[in-house]
Amino acid sequence: MHEVIILAAGEGKRMNSSRPKVLQPVGGRPMLRHLVDTVAAFEPKGIHVVVGFGAGQVEAALAGSGCRFVEQAQRLGTGHAAAQALPAIDPASRVLILPGDMPLIRGETIRALLDSPSDLALLSFMADDPTGYGRILRDAGGRVQAIREHRDASEAERAVCEVNSGVMCARAGDFAAWLDRVGADNAQGEYYLTDCIALAVADGRTVEAVVAAQADELLGANDRAQLAELETVYQVRARQALFDQGVTLLDPGSVQVRGRVQAGRDVCIDAGVVLEGEIELGDGVEIGPGCVLSDVRLAAGTQVKPYCVLEGMHSTGACTIGPFARLRPGTVLGEEVKIGNFVETKNARFSAGAKASHLSYVGDAEVGARANIGAGTITCNYDGANKHQTRIGADAFIGSNSALVAPVTIGEGGTIGAGSVISQDAPDGQLTVSRARQRSIAGWKRPVKAAPEK
Ligand code: UD1
Ligand code: CA
Repeated sequence: MHEVIILAAGEGKRMNSSRPKVLQPVGGRPMLRHLVDTVAAFEPKGIHVVVGFGAGQVEAALAGSGCRFVEQAQRLGTGHAAAQALPAIDPASRVLILPGDMPLIRGETIRALLDSPSDLALLSFMADDPTGYGRILRDAGGRVQAIREHRDASEAERAVCEVNSGVMCARAGDFAAWLDRVGADNAQGEYYLTDCIALAVADGRTVEAVVAAQADELLGANDRAQLAELETVYQVRARQALFDQGVTLLDPGSVQVRGRVQAGRDVCIDAGVVLEGEIELGDGVEIGPGCVLSDVRLAAGTQVKPYCVLEGMHSTGACTIGPFARLRPGTVLGEEVKIGNFVETKNARFSAGAKASHLSYVGDAEVGARANIGAGTITCNYDGANKHQTRIGADAFIGSNSALVAPVTIGEGGTIGAGSVISQDAPDGQLTVSRARQRSIAGWKRPVKAAPEK
């Protein structure tokens, strides 16, 4: 049984942000959230998050995650931070310590560290540019001796490219004993967690640095440029997961995944598509260019034409959407429904074969099977204080430019004459018209321009 400590008290000054660094998003979710999800898969006995700067924001972002929060009132270094969490942990438990700004670390990599039989195991990697990192110092026999922080390192030590990722693992009791002996006599005047290595070596304990196969998953982000690099790595990975599921991306680099996507086979996604939140795409779904989908479930065969914005909606059968449609939360589309251009829907249920092909607003409505909503039709669902429901029966035909003033019901097979304002229920099967009757005035003369005065 092991426990996890995540160090997340720092501000991340170089982000120039009002939120703590660990809450900066990668793939649409806070960096810390990725890390918590990854370690939670190991079912640790506890996840202890050390918070300080923006503690309230961090706790809110992890609400419901089951993490325990420990306040580090003063930022006195990574060793001091870890020490805040240790008293609550059984000394015999193995503890995994991670920095909170490492969102891309994979479960396999953590597993390799947990599998190390050493008393103290840490994760290192080979950096192209080791500037800023703690260097792993090994003796002639390759045994790890110490970690030297960049600012404390000599010229020769700075030439070392094997660096500390910040992830380590040992028994809680050992960490507590080593951290008791760690001082702050260094360039930053901080209590370094990394000083535990030399102390463990001095005690004759076994220390292993597990060199990670892929450096990019251990990248942290200290500034916005590094955050953008993490995003790139994340997106490459997210797109690979789509390919693995059988998705075609016509312009992979332009598709952004900011959530979890479950896709069937032969899904095709065009250029410039953004996928957010929880997304489910059935077999053969097609998404045209420029669409933004968030929290959307599309049944097999659904076609989304270019430039649609879909949020909190789902389809229950193959239907077509767009181009230029905006479907808002609570929209449900049945089989063979057609939502055309410049149509906005909200909290609206379209039964099989219903159509709204052009320029409509359909909100708080139920649209029966095969009903046809003409261009420019508006459900007037809001009276300025409350929202009301519009019911449109199966096979109804709503003439263009009608206003349906809710609450109102259009009967099955009912027809509404174009340009009507319907404020009372319209019966089944009849034509209902509420516009002024057309008339022509015989002998009417157009006005003529008055002659200019002389
Ligand atoms: C740390 C390591 C360094 C390693 C690098 C990897 C130490 C002394 N150095 O350096 O060897 O190469 O990470 O990125 O550990 N934090 C607190 N409280 C504090 C200080 C830090 O919670 O008092 C948290 C930060 O919020 C951050 C993490 O600890 O999430 C790491 O701190 P950071 O300042 O980024 O350490 P580095 O200088 O990068
Ligand atoms: Ca760092």
